Amino acid sequence: MDLWFDTDPGFDDWMAWLLIEACPDFRLHGVSVVAGNAPLPRVLENARRIKTLHGLAAPLHAGCDRPLAQAQVTAQNVLGAHGMATTGRHLVADEAALMPQHGVQAMIDCIRAHPGQITLLAVGPLTNVATAFALAPDLPALLKDLVIMGGSTVGGNATAAAEFNIHADPEAAARVFACGRSVAMFGLNVCRQVVVDASHVARARGAGSNASLVFSDYLDGYVDIARQRGRPFQSVYDPTPVMWLARPELFELQPGRVDIELAGQHTRGMTVCDLRGPALPRANARVALKAQGEEALDWAMTLIEARLKA
Ligand code: BDR
Ligand code: CA
Repeated sequence: MDLWFDTDPGFDDWMAWLLIEACPDFRLHGVSVVAGNAPLPRVLENARRIKTLHGLAAPLHAGCDRPLAQAQVTAQNVLGAHGMATTGRHLVADEAALMPQHGVQAMIDCIRAHPGQITLLAVGPLTNVATAFALAPDLPALLKDLVIMGGSTVGGNATAAAEFNIHADPEAAARVFACGRSVAMFGLNVCRQVVVDASHVARARGAGSNASLVFSDYLDGYVDIARQRGRPFQSVYDPTPVMWLARPELFELQPGRVDIELAGQHTRGMTVCDLRGPALPRANARVALKAQGEEALDWAMTLIEARLKA
């Protein structure tokens, strides 16, 4: 499967990227970075350090540094100044190659060069994707599939109503869901069925390489966000759609209508999911509802462990 990955690293973005590169089913054409978990310079630096640590092959591009319309929001209040936390070792600064071309143009060029072939997977705010679709209206029809981590059928995390990736750029999300092709939506509701805990940290650490030690300290930092709130396990957000792409039999999706609330005083950024029968003629999404989380994560960890040993 041919992929383009749009991301705002973030630890769970890192884990998704590593899983993509670890899975022989995928051919990753490029990675575009978008402001989200932290401002663009920070998430870009995170991406460069991750790329260096693992020797990741796909070309890396800087994308949009602010949302389409609203003021920038980040997840640094939860994830820390770097947009990811470690309980031990730190990623080392490195000048990993950054391509000169803007991420949005690189995404457009890649999709146009491979009509009908590229699955676009976006796991950050949808600013890069919406900008690409505005500049190249032919793009949605040229994709093999369009998959996002974002939204929720059950309430939000950034606010009571809104999931972070949609909350950070609701106008971009609205444009993407209106692009004319079905979006596979992996929201909080399904990602919360895939959880990591101390046993997964130990598995990653057991791979024994320097990369595995750094990765597992950040995985532990990720689980620690939940521990500090009294839970021993943390939801796995961005890697979950990667698991679906490779192991679709472990998930259930339902077609429906998803609209982005842009005006609500308390509900701006909410994904209003209409999964009722009468909404089907207006369906613009396949909403992921169920995951066999333990099996999916075990599969993912096996690949990640092997990649960390390499
Ligand atoms: C999403 O928000 C970000 O903090 C994570 O990287 C993930 O993409 C979860 O709501
Ligand atoms: Ca993300």
